[in-house]
Amino acid sequence: MARILTGIQSSGKPHLGNLLGAIQPAIALSENEANESFFFIADLHSLTTIKDPQIRVENTHAVAAAWLAFGFDTEKNTFYRQSRVPQVCELNWYLNCYTPFPMLANAHSFKDKSDRLADVNAGLFTYPVLMACDILLYDADIVPVGKDQKQHLEMTRDIASTFNHKHGDIFILPEAQIDETVMTVPGLDGQKMSKSYGNIIDIFQSDKELKKNINRIVSDSTPLEAPKNPDEDTTFALYSLLATPEQVATMRKNYLGGNYGYGHAKKALYELIIDKFAKERQVYNEYINDPDLIEKELAKGEEKAAAVAKKVLERVKKALGFA
Ligand code: AMP
Ligand code: TRP
Repeated sequence: MARILTGIQSSGKPHLGNLLGAIQPAIALSENEANESFFFIADLHSLTTIKDPQIRVENTHAVAAAWLAFGFDTEKNTFYRQSRVPQVCELNWYLNCYTPFPMLANAHSFKDKSDRLADVNAGLFTYPVLMACDILLYDADIVPVGKDQKQHLEMTRDIASTFNHKHGDIFILPEAQIDETVMTVPGLDGQKMSKSYGNIIDIFQSDKELKKNINRIVSDSTPLEAPKNPDEDTTFALYSLLATPEQVATMRKNYLGGNYGYGHAKKALYELIIDKFAKERQVYNEYINDPDLIEKELAKGEEKAAAVAKKVLERVKKALGFA
């Protein structure tokens, strides 16, 4: 039995990139009988950038509702909110003391964030140590993540090896699972879809808002009558990620044939999203309109997660002479 573990920060509303790039593939892994999954909402990590408690709670509920809407089985697996298992903060202190300063100073994500953000706080700097704790506290074997998290997983393994070298085999060394075949989903402007670029598609928006948002997809100024290049157009790229091969072939023909405008393509994309995700949109709304139901799901996992965390932390404390 392999233990799979991954987390998504509650630093924004879940978008199509998170769904196709992280949530759907992770749920597919969790459906394999040989696996047991720990999936959590990284709300402590979101404190590095989000200071408004109300917004954090809303984002936490939105991310949780997205996992639930896409069918994550919370009976078989463990689904929880990071902050409700505070043992992770205790482990965080211990592992801070095993993390070399230059390792953190050289992290790509810290360099990137410290160039972009006005609030460059110490939490942003030690972010990878807390992430290592998320993984090591639960004896995770496999951690499915996007390419951008590769260095964080290397740091986790480094920290765990340093600790094990001094104190014996306390931590399991986790393997990153980076699916290179998962496409990077483009945003409205054609760049990578990301909450920090303000270019996201939130498939859970109301019909009207979703339509308005899809109409914001940037296109060139080729006139309606003229043929269009599907391979250089963001609406086509997004449509291709969601449609069947037959639908994509028809859309390609429409682009190349002329007399088919970007407005037509955007309408087709909107209708496809509404149709393809009808069930997920409905379930998502049921949860969002009943936050107690979300809290109940999360509470179920919190107990299961805490039981594992306490055992592992005890092992660490014994090794350090604190217990
Ligand atoms: P983030 O929203 O950056 O915290 O990312 C959460 C997860 O979603 C990570 O595993 C990312 O790799 C994945 N993800 C984020 N944006 C995209 C995108 N545009 N395309 C594919 N996957 C993405
Ligand atoms: N840093 C990850 C991201 O931004 C989120 C995360 C926090 C995570 N802790 C984790 C992912 C532990 C995997 C395992 O995407």
